[in-house]
Amino acid sequence: MDYNNLKIPDHVGIIVDGNGRWAEARKLSRSIGHKAGAKNLEKLTRYAISKGIKVLSLYVFSTENFKRSKEEVDYLMNLFITTFKKSNKKYAKENIKVVFSGREDRLSSDVIKTMNEMMEMTKNNTGGIVNFCLNYGGHSELIDACKKISQDVNNKVLDIDDLNEEIFPKYLYNDLPPIDLLIRTGGEYRISNFMLWHLSYAEFYFTPTYFPGFGYDEFDQAILDYTKRDRRFGGINYENKNN
Ligand code: IPE
Ligand code: IPE
Ligand code: MG
Repeated sequence: MDYNNLKIPDHVGIIVDGNGRWAEARKLSRSIGHKAGAKNLEKLTRYAISKGIKVLSLYVFSTENFKRSKEEVDYLMNLFITTFKKSNKKYAKENIKVVFSGREDRLSSDVIKTMNEMMEMTKNNTGGIVNFCLNYGGHSELIDACKKISQDVNNKVLDIDDLNEEIFPKYLYNDLPPIDLLIRTGGEYRISNFMLWHLSYAEFYFTPTYFPGFGYDEFDQAILDYTKRDRRFGGINYENKNN
């Protein structure tokens, strides 16, 4: 697809969903689905950044996903470690900066170490940001922000009357722009506690495709759809009206 004719969103969020069902439909174990999802995610990430998307937020593990069996959680955590270790050189080479959003509690020291290595290796990169939301919850992020704000108020670093919509995001896990386009694969029509602050005016693209099968063509389709949306932000685009 010719991206020159498309409107490129600055910040795209992806709720990576349907790995388990992709595998179950093929009579494979859920783990195989997660592995296929991780492989697809790495390819898609580099494709999206190469198309000029500045920030890509990827929901790979929610705070609620700890409700799953120990076996599945352990598999996913090990998969994060191996895929991060494998891909960090590629991200470094392609000038992509990697950041993480989420709580460290409940993550093993091995996972945290791999995350820190990846952030360290890519911290000076300027070609685009990939934000992995891992042990992430939108509620936790807002609560954690409130706690940091309260500390700054107590330490007289912040006057509560100065808090506004520009300052508040600086207290979130990462200071990122609003999400322009949210993609959710896997057929569900919900946001499952993802980036509540950043999604306030996002355009949504829902698809039944399970994530391991979500390729470049459908990503292009989502960007094409987004290009056609009339974003009003509560105002009115008078030039589109006849009167
Ligand atoms: C998304 O796939 C990956 C994670 C949530 C970690 P799922 O594991 O939710 O797959 P389905 O929704 O059960 O098919
Ligand atoms: C959302 O998917 C979380 C991630 C993609 C990491 P889930 O599969 O956990 O969401 P629900 O349970 O269907 O809402
Ligand atoms: Mg799911």
